[in-house]
Amino acid sequence: TPIKYIRNFSIIAHVDHGKSTLADRLLEMTGAIKTNSGAQVLDKLQVEKERGITVKAQTASLKYVYKGQEYLLNLIDTPGHVDFASEVYRSLAACQGVILLVDANDGVQAQTVANFYLAFGSDLTIVPVINKIDLKNANPERVIEELNNLFDIDPDEILKISAKNGTNVEKVLEAIIERVPPPTVSRDAPLRALIFDSWYDRYKGAISLIFVKDGAISVGDQITSCYTGKSYEIKSLAFLRPQEEAVKRIFAGQVGCLTCNMRSSKEAYIGDTLHLKGVEVEPLPGFKESKPMVYAGVYPMDQSQYAALESAIEKLTLNDNAVSVTKESSPALGQGWRLGFLGLLHMEVFTQRLDQEHDAQAVLTAPGVTYKAKIHGSKNITKYGGNEIYFSNPTHFPETQIIEEIHEPMVIATIITPDKYLGPVIALCMERRGVEKSTKNIDNERVMLQFQLPLNEIIVDFHDALKSMSSGFASFDYEDAGFAIANIVKMDVYLNGQLVEELSTLVHSAKATEKARKMSLKLMDIIPRQQFLIAIQVTVGSKVLARENLKPYRKDVTAKLYGGDVTRRKKLLARQSEGKKKMRMIGNIALPRETFIDVLKK
Ligand code: GTP
Repeated sequence: TPIKYIRNFSIIAHVDHGKSTLADRLLEMTGAIKTNSGAQVLDKLQVEKERGITVKAQTASLKYVYKGQEYLLNLIDTPGHVDFASEVYRSLAACQGVILLVDANDGVQAQTVANFYLAFGSDLTIVPVINKIDLKNANPERVIEELNNLFDIDPDEILKISAKNGTNVEKVLEAIIERVPPPTVSRDAPLRALIFDSWYDRYKGAISLIFVKDGAISVGDQITSCYTGKSYEIKSLAFLRPQEEAVKRIFAGQVGCLTCNMRSSKEAYIGDTLHLKGVEVEPLPGFKESKPMVYAGVYPMDQSQYAALESAIEKLTLNDNAVSVTKESSPALGQGWRLGFLGLLHMEVFTQRLDQEHDAQAVLTAPGVTYKAKIHGSKNITKYGGNEIYFSNPTHFPETQIIEEIHEPMVIATIITPDKYLGPVIALCMERRGVEKSTKNIDNERVMLQFQLPLNEIIVDFHDALKSMSSGFASFDYEDAGFAIANIVKMDVYLNGQLVEELSTLVHSAKATEKARKMSLKLMDIIPRQQFLIAIQVTVGSKVLARENLKPYRKDVTAKLYGGDVTRRKKLLARQSEGKKKMRMIGNIALPRETFIDVLKK
């Protein structure tokens, strides 16, 4: 296809606004799939089907005849959820335009705003589309007002469609051809191909999704990665329609996938530029590397499952470059890993995939964030190799006397809510140590708020709290906002005066007392009673913030009934020693592994 007949675009939308439905409709209209083939085609993974969300970007090349001319339309699917902004960003690098899809009933939501600014900031043509106009409560006029208010979008440019019924979907294809410019590429220049996604296939190895910016790439070419300097031979090239269709060559302006002799998708560095071996080029602008924001310990349910879980984690991370993995061990939970995720949803999706695709059950500890400590004293600086230490594991909290200041990661949260919930929403943000940045009425019923919040305050249940106080109507998205000084302290748990290392947590000092109380009450609930009293103390430094006494259990009056029955007695003893293996001793207190799982789990 000549360059002027190529269009590369994405659909961006808030979750559930109908992106997959529209994509399927476009595929049907261009003959890529049969009408009413049932399941959504672009959402391949099982988790995606179950949760109805798109996790991994998928792509399809479509042919469409418009005014007698055949066009090649490359639809680049993007994930729509709050944690996956970095994947959206990567996908957009291969596009010149986006369809901004908004539900006619829900109106503009938090991810609509975030996605709009990603596309706008990348200088892409934006085709605004209101979907679900067939709904009884559809209010396209209100949505038009919102789009105009927030983004200065001309009401005449807005299309109104029903992706479900197919109403006006043809107009979307026409708008893409007429409004989105063809890619600015050169077929005469030496090859430059951008890797914008990669994944691992059990049979084919690493597969990279590429956008060819200049020149052409052919099967058999020797190519070199700008990032690693390593060279490979191209084994196969394909267009995605959306099934792979093998081709010998991909020209500038086109999108496709390639395999070469890369052993893992980690070698296929997203944002990397490929060029012909020996033909030096200027690398294409790389992307922000997505960095983990949320960390959690992952342990096998039982140590006998260690190897199985390890291989499952390895396989999944081959497919998900954004997860970071380091080994970790805990006296209670044994050998495990500390995994870093882009956000909470990412973490949930990952562990669900572990479970579903690899049959590996894992215990997940409560999530935490990465802190930064500035330390002083030249000796300490040499010891730690610099005056800044990053840590997420409470056991790595530096000695208090060497800390100059501690910084915690911050986010800017965008919340859109009907104004009748404004009071409670603001109260929630304040309680989470939020600082209001701006408020704006987006129509006469709804408000957009921006708050600066500590990441740590939103990773556990912020989204759920927001949803429940607004009957599901408030939406939320966040972006990274760097580090800020915070008074973070390490909270420790003592049982009968013995420190229980794995129960230490990092908390903001203003919340320490409240958290300490909750922790001690939770422990009262979970720790099985023993023959003696257990004093539970929760401390920060030398200060005891909460204490409880767990009373001994009463003598078991039935115990001696078993005295005479030898086989019964033996059985009980065997069971006891079996149980002992799984016990973690804190002084003379025996705690079953399950206790720790209950305390440490989220
Ligand atoms: P994510 O992949 O999670 O971002 O969701 P999505 O934006 O792809 O939404 P999806 O296409 O899965 O649609 C969400 C729901 O809206 C589904 O139940 C669709 O059937 C429904 N839906 C999509 N388009 C329309 C429409 O035009 N009219 C009506 N009535 N429902 C629609």
